[in-house]
Amino acid sequence: MKRIVILISGRGSNMEALIAARDAGKLPVAIAAVISNRPDAQGLKTAARAGIASEALDHKAFAGRAAFDAALAECIDRHAPDLVVLAGFMRILGEDFVRHYEGRLLNIHPSLLPAFPGLHTHQRALDEGVRVHGCTVHFVTPALDHGPIVIQAAVPVLDGDSEETLAARVLAQEHVIYPQAVRWFAEGRLQLIDGRVRVAGAGGGTAALIAPGLD
Ligand code: GRF
Repeated sequence: MKRIVILISGRGSNMEALIAARDAGKLPVAIAAVISNRPDAQGLKTAARAGIASEALDHKAFAGRAAFDAALAECIDRHAPDLVVLAGFMRILGEDFVRHYEGRLLNIHPSLLPAFPGLHTHQRALDEGVRVHGCTVHFVTPALDHGPIVIQAAVPVLDGDSEETLAARVLAQEHVIYPQAVRWFAEGRLQLIDGRVRVAGAGGGTAALIAPGLD
């Protein structure tokens, strides 16, 4: 069975979705550890309650990005994961770190990339007046919120949406697509070909979810 390490910084609801999928028998992975760069991350307690080894590595205790990245990689590699899953991990990772995990580092981003990389994606989507928004799971490359796309889910932007209501609609889809993407990885079905992802044995359409939500 493939081993994964999950990196978080806060609430950890995507991590919880992965744990729930594993517990439901829908995600055949061993969750070797959960690591947070913030010692007070709520998700660390959730992980511990689920009986998962959880560790905090406070980035503020390190002189710079390179030192933190190196310590983080050492911490991760002690658990010998096949895949590292960024689930609301709010630190930019340096090029050396990203190259070390090339092809085995996934991220979830709350927008339909390449639209709205970076922060405050929901407010920016509202400000632009887009009618469709969503979330993306992608392999990580050194460029921020960039890299081969595994799966996306789209949701409507409704009249009267606030940042909160839109974020909640997107988050519900994050909890669907992240376990799906990790499952595909665990089943050995994700192929990287010329910088694009091919999902073996799945019709191309299954990597795009159009969420219901319009009354
Ligand atoms: C999610 O919206 C994720 O896409 C983004 O940060 C948020 C983390 O939420 N990168 P959680 O910690 O998984 O609840």
